Amino acid sequence: MNILITGGAGFIGSHVVRRLVTTYPNYHIYNLDALTYAGNLENLTDVESASNYTFIKGDITEADFIDALFQEHQFDGVIHLAAESHVDRSITDPMAFVKTNVMGTVHLLNAFKSLWQDNFEGKRFYHVSTDEVYGSLGKTGLFTETTPYDPNSPYSASKASSDHFVRAYGETYGMPYVISNCSNNYGPNHFPEKLIPLFINNIIQKQPLPVYGDGNYTRDWLYVKDHARAIDLVYHKGKNAETYNIGGFNEWTNLNLVKLLCQQMDEKLGRPTGDSEKLITYVKDRPGHDLRYAIDSTKIHKELGWKPSVTFEEGLAKTIDWYLKNEEWLARVTSGDYREYYERQYK
Ligand code: NAD
Ligand code: DAU
Repeated sequence: MNILITGGAGFIGSHVVRRLVTTYPNYHIYNLDALTYAGNLENLTDVESASNYTFIKGDITEADFIDALFQEHQFDGVIHLAAESHVDRSITDPMAFVKTNVMGTVHLLNAFKSLWQDNFEGKRFYHVSTDEVYGSLGKTGLFTETTPYDPNSPYSASKASSDHFVRAYGETYGMPYVISNCSNNYGPNHFPEKLIPLFINNIIQKQPLPVYGDGNYTRDWLYVKDHARAIDLVYHKGKNAETYNIGGFNEWTNLNLVKLLCQQMDEKLGRPTGDSEKLITYVKDRPGHDLRYAIDSTKIHKELGWKPSVTFEEGLAKTIDWYLKNEEWLARVTSGDYREYYERQYK
């Protein structure tokens, strides 16, 4: 089996690559990644010399290159994670999201279709998506697989569009596919422009913690290795042409989350209790900020037996430990372009 993972040098992708390379020695795993600001091969140093692993630097927006790659390696399966993934960046540059998330996905679908359209037997295109396609919840309720799409940001609109294209290729061309929509991930290797790693870095540096609006926005957090395990299961056992919601049953307001993070970090850094909380600073809200996301993951639990394996407190502690052990990684990814982004976004 030749399996293509796109976006494998990113946060979630690197955990998926590691899991598949180490769990399935009889598969050959190809990791295709453009190495944008969010991609980092340092995330994969422990598997880079495995005999069943190949890294390919390349861009999913380049159709001819993608076609040639599929012809060359005859990928039996695709697990598609490559994307522009940051809501704040989508607000300042929506077109980058259209190019990668929509057009890049369609190029992959076309290449997969051209390769296997005479016989799709045993083939699968797995599209990894987000709960943000469902829009925002009020104070109650959960997103299920049948919740209507209602995206609010350019990021979520681009992901919703890509989900629709995948489904349309299934209906129109009989292409075997599966989609999953997951809630907020956290864990090792998370690029520090998203809430948890950004705040970990700022606490280490004793810099302000920029909470958007009043901080009463709610997210449902899942440890990234539990997501990677779910992706493995859905790829192998998920039913064709189905969607699976993946979530942590773990809702936190941003403010409560940040307080827990501050407490855990004060303990680990040997700082007085309450020290890091003093860094909390309320800043201008994100435009179109979704109030609440929460996933009902009953379907994947009942059909595939999946459930999260760690509590949030455990997962957060492991995450902090990883960042404290990998301060060089953190220093490298927060130099250069990151500083410019940070200035633009927060100053
Ligand atoms: P990330 O931004 O950390 O990584 C994205 C990867 O894609 C990077 O390695 C980047 O170099 C690569 N990439 C970007 N544009 C590319 C292009 N044009 N061609 C090839 N490679 C390209 O993202 P992530 O947080 O790991 O998310 C991965 C996927 O999971 C995305 O599709 C995202 O929508 C989805 N998702 C993320 C979360 C989350 O909480 N992070 C939750 C649910 C779903
Ligand atoms: O729900 C899944 C989605 O989760 C994924 O599809 C996205 O790829 C991923 O980036 C994430 O999106 P969010 O916008 O929820 O994540 P982010 O870490 O950017 O923000 C989490 C919450 O924290 C959100 O309510 C905004 C808030 N926030 C974020 C940052 C970066 C702040 O208050 N301050 C900040 O500086």
